[in-house]
Amino acid sequence: MRLADVGPDGGIHLDPAEQTRAAGITSPAARRDFLAGRIALRAFVAGILGVGPGELTAHYSCPDCGTGPELDHGRPGYRMHGAPVGLSLSLSRSGGWVLLAAGSTGVSGVMVGGAVGIDLEHSSGVMFPGFDDVALTSAERQHLLALPPVKVMPWRAAAWARKEALLKARGTGLRIEPSSVEAFAEPADGTVVVDLDTVALGLPAGFAAALAIVEMA
Ligand SMILES: CC(C)(COP(=O)(O)OP(=O)(O)OC[C@H]1O[C@@H](n2cnc3c(N)ncnc32)[C@H](O)[C@@H]1OP(=O)(O)O)[C@@H](O)C(=O)NCCC(=O)NCCS
Repeated sequence: MRLADVGPDGGIHLDPAEQTRAAGITSPAARRDFLAGRIALRAFVAGILGVGPGELTAHYSCPDCGTGPELDHGRPGYRMHGAPVGLSLSLSRSGGWVLLAAGSTGVSGVMVGGAVGIDLEHSSGVMFPGFDDVALTSAERQHLLALPPVKVMPWRAAAWARKEALLKARGTGLRIEPSSVEAFAEPADGTVVVDLDTVALGLPAGFAAALAIVEMA
């Protein structure tokens, strides 16, 4: 959905850590986008569970900083009345839009199904000089050389979306060098990465999107 279309509740249901992070974002546009994304994710989860957004407490997890209601970043999660809501969640904002994903983790909060990661990328986000060196493996850089010019930007955006979706599903984010991740390789460990149909999702031209599901032991 468009971040600008997110309901005008002003973030009244957001938690203190979310409000504090928003207050620290100096760019008004970036602050508005952050708040809209968090409001949209909370509404999405509340809708799935059939509860009010105010019944949820954000409970994010970071490999470096731990997990809990005080955490303002990392893998998204929510609790309701102190218990995990049983959903694996992911969010991505790009070019004024937000994409959300949820998967079931079972009632205990143990990830019996899989951890999801989603990423949305506009071609304009992968145009900067040096992108290929930072983001692509050497095999991917070779592959790009063989592409017709018109396909280069869409391919870069698709590759980046697949890498970020995978790294979000794994819970690391960019702590892992993206240039060490093969975007289109067939993972051997049950991991699934799929390109999403951005037209079917109602997105305008120029976006790539991917969803990854990583099996949890
Ligand atoms: C995950 C990451 C790749 C996404 O960045 P991005 O492409 O700029 O932004 P997107 O809009 O696509 O995704 C942002 C969302 O990714 C999710 N996310 C962040 N870290 C995540 C992680 N470790 N695992 C899974 N999802 C994560 C959050 O839902 C975040 O939304 P928020 O801004 O509301 O918190 C990037 O945030 C990252 O690499 N983070 C790890 C490094 C870090 O956070 N360091 C500082 C804290 S120790």
